[in-house]
Amino acid sequence: MFARELKRALAGLAVVSMGLGAAAAQPASGLGPVSISLPQAALVGPFDPKSGDVVVWVAPGALSGPAASVDGLSNGALSRAIEAADFKAKPGDALTLFSIGPFSRVILIGVGAAPLREADLEDYGGRAATAAAAGRPAEVVVYTPDAPGVDSDAAIALRGALLGGYAFGEAKDRARPNPLRRLAFVDAAPAPERARAEADARALAAGVAFARDLISEPSNIKTPQWFVEQTRAAFRGAPNVSFEVLDERAMQRLGMGLMIGVGQGSTRPPRLLIVRYRGAGVSDAPIAFVGKGITFDAGGVSLKDPDGMWRMRYDMSGAAASVGAVLTLSRRGAKVNAVAVAALAENMPDGGAIRPGDVLTAYDGQTVEVLNTDAEGRLVLADALAYLQAKDKPRTVITIATLTGSVRVALGDDYGGLFANDDAAANQIMASGEAAGEPLWRLPIHESIAKDIDSDVADVKNVAEGSGLPGASIGAGFIQAWVKPGQVWLHLDIAGMAWKTSRSPTVPAGAVGYGVRLFDRLVKDHYETK
Ligand code: BES
Ligand code: MN
Ligand code: ZN
Repeated sequence: MFARELKRALAGLAVVSMGLGAAAAQPASGLGPVSISLPQAALVGPFDPKSGDVVVWVAPGALSGPAASVDGLSNGALSRAIEAADFKAKPGDALTLFSIGPFSRVILIGVGAAPLREADLEDYGGRAATAAAAGRPAEVVVYTPDAPGVDSDAAIALRGALLGGYAFGEAKDRARPNPLRRLAFVDAAPAPERARAEADARALAAGVAFARDLISEPSNIKTPQWFVEQTRAAFRGAPNVSFEVLDERAMQRLGMGLMIGVGQGSTRPPRLLIVRYRGAGVSDAPIAFVGKGITFDAGGVSLKDPDGMWRMRYDMSGAAASVGAVLTLSRRGAKVNAVAVAALAENMPDGGAIRPGDVLTAYDGQTVEVLNTDAEGRLVLADALAYLQAKDKPRTVITIATLTGSVRVALGDDYGGLFANDDAAANQIMASGEAAGEPLWRLPIHESIAKDIDSDVADVKNVAEGSGLPGASIGAGFIQAWVKPGQVWLHLDIAGMAWKTSRSPTVPAGAVGYGVRLFDRLVKDHYETK
């Protein structure tokens, strides 16, 4: 009876597969390594599901689905082992059992009660890959739990495995063999839907891996120009993509005094990088992602404390999310027009650097009194945002930045900080963030902030004076002064989200690539033409 059930479950089953044996490297640009190290695809033939190594999901309560089938095929050995091990099947619990009837290895992964979200399925895939990799090299069949409304749960679990399997620099380390030869994710989705979902999963994983690669790179290598070249290399051959790169001279000519000012303390000149992807009609206004791209933030003359300063190489995580998201959209051929902007500069102290008290003029003519050179992210974003709105007239513009330490105090590493001038757009992105596993919490920009940043000598100052002020809201309020009337604008402060000290099933410790999943999901949910 159990065998029949399994056979039925397997009828029409097809397979999304991957081998973790080899790492696929991106073409290097010459200046430094690009180390996208996603497991390579390999198609696996038909399985014999009656034996071998399997991963099955277990929900709280009585065994069901593939676990029940394995139990039947092993004459109850699985349920006896579960009982003896006191395995509770809480979400995230994992247990590996050996020699269960005809199965050499049965890996159990606890999942929560239905309905599972996509993020739960991703976690399942990440955990399955980790657990399978810990054992002997073998072909492992991974049965996936059905999540309602998901085209192919196998593809989503594969996505989780790809995201969790990322390792910075792994492509360079070919001597280290990966113990996992091959995973085969199995579901009952119709083949065309699964194929599409698999392509989307790989596109997303590529965008996230690219963002992580950029963020992880040490800042001696990661100059603004390096960022530009890596991005060009990652997009090489991508259709419907065009590049615009402004160097210092171009910025000078255009009057981008804030970009120039932040970058002028560094020997590595600033760049404004714009990547445009056209996946919809010419007249469709794009969605634009404007990212803070400080390749190292020493604070400038308002020098930072040396403790933990090394982490400020991640201060370009917003820019990485912008280009990573558009890379994903282009790879999966999303029916949308999208623009990534990377406002790239290095914030260093130097004889040529700007000083506290200096007054700079932005691209749109507004003047800024720089009272603290360490509040540099809002400066580069203001110029980039003004330029982008003038040139592209976006439907929605999203600024994304590791902008303030203050947002970490408010939200920790549980939520990205969201600021918005449009409630509908805010609610949409919060829902997409929840679905994509990159949640946001909305924070206010009180009208009093305009007064807080009012300056006697310029239009605005870049910090408010006084203690106990809402730093994340002030940063957002500053940027808002560059948002044109009627422009739908969202601002994400991701200083608490972009770097993790411990790993989760789909995010290794270190660079997260936060924002790529969120933006891809937001576009899918609300911006793509059908
Ligand atoms: N890149 C930092 C934000 C940051 C600080 C991220 C600490 C993670 C940890 C940003 O450029 C910055 O220095 N912000 C200042 C602003 C202040 C001078 C108004 C901050 O948050 O302390
Ligand atoms: Mn700073
Ligand atoms: Zn910064």
